[in-house]
Amino acid sequence: MRNVAELENKLTEPSEKLIRDLKTIDGDILILGVGGKMGPSLAGLAVKAIREGNLNKRVIGVSRFSDPEAKRGLEEAGVETISCDLLNEQELERLPDGANVIYMAGNKFGTTGREAFTWAMNAYLPGRVAQKYKHSRMVVFSSGNVYPFSPVGSGGVDESVTPEPLGEYAQSCLGRERIFEYFSHRNQTPMTIYRLNYAIDMRYGILLELARSVQEGRPVNLAMGHANVIWQGDANEMALRSLTLCSSPPAVMNVTGPETMSIRWAAAELAARLKKEALFEGTESNNALLSNAAKSHQLFGYPSVSLLQMIDWTADWLLSGGPTWNKPTHFQERKGKF
Ligand SMILES: NC(=O)c1ccc[n+]([C@@H]2O[C@H](COP(=O)([O-])OP(=O)(O)OC[C@H]3O[C@@H](n4cnc5c(N)ncnc54)[C@H](OP(=O)(O)O)[C@@H]3O)[C@@H](O)[C@H]2O)c1
Repeated sequence: MRNVAELENKLTEPSEKLIRDLKTIDGDILILGVGGKMGPSLAGLAVKAIREGNLNKRVIGVSRFSDPEAKRGLEEAGVETISCDLLNEQELERLPDGANVIYMAGNKFGTTGREAFTWAMNAYLPGRVAQKYKHSRMVVFSSGNVYPFSPVGSGGVDESVTPEPLGEYAQSCLGRERIFEYFSHRNQTPMTIYRLNYAIDMRYGILLELARSVQEGRPVNLAMGHANVIWQGDANEMALRSLTLCSSPPAVMNVTGPETMSIRWAAAELAARLKKEALFEGTESNNALLSNAAKSHQLFGYPSVSLLQMIDWTADWLLSGGPTWNKPTHFQERKGKF
């Protein structure tokens, strides 16, 4: 995995199961908030699955496209694009209908100091969108941040645990879920609430952040000593396959890898590959933001890319000078201030 073309190819390899599932779903796929870290590869994956399955579906990606490169790349991949600020009433109204909606828009960083905007984006806009798309199926991206921290030996919290979000970003994510849930009840709209913990691409994510610290000789802070990660291609595949689960009231599903990953261990594995020494500061807390995604693994199978494979690829990527994005996860945050 040494260049962007290889990475994007790997991120958009559809499985037979995805193709089979999309065959059972009627209508086009509309992706709202497609221009971020995950949307372009999710849309590309959908297009390839549709082509390989000879299915008759369009994939339409909607975003403001603050990064015009994302729009160009999507169009080259066969995704129709619409530039739209979803918070603009008229622009939202003009969007086409779509039998299947994947909702990925959201605001996280910069919440502190712009709390009102975060709430408008994460909890008000969902109501507008849920009303407009009340006749669609909807997969709503949410976050494992809605859960409380749990003991590191517990295996993480499953979907039966009552949300207890820490800080305004996480609270607004629960707001997003609750507003969609309300409209699902009110309009009988089938939905899946998809609670994700830390997708990994070579260009961003927890492993890249650890690898960079190691490479640059910066100590890794161990206070948030454990986390869950998943290959972005697997997370995207599960999001598309979640269209088959949508129900009213909404289905709720945690999505992440099977391991409770030790940050100390992952940094040491990366250090060995980078031929550097991992430096640490602090000690592990006895709890962390941890999600148990066993239900998604039962439904969809284990992720196709293993944790050590992601570690190998991340180290190779850094050593070969692959491009990276300056989009830190802030996974170390223990007070909920993003
Ligand atoms: N990546 C992860 O590991 C992770 C973990 C947990 C949860 N999530 C959630 O999963 C979703 C997708 O993840 P991501 O990493 O791809 O998020 P992201 O990088 O923040 O992408 C979301 C995109 O939505 C678009 N958007 C925001 N406001 C908009 C508006 N008013 N109108 C139209 N488009 C708008 C933005 O693109 P434009 O600038 O083009 O509009 C933004 O880049 C997000 O909601 C995120 O919070 C992600």
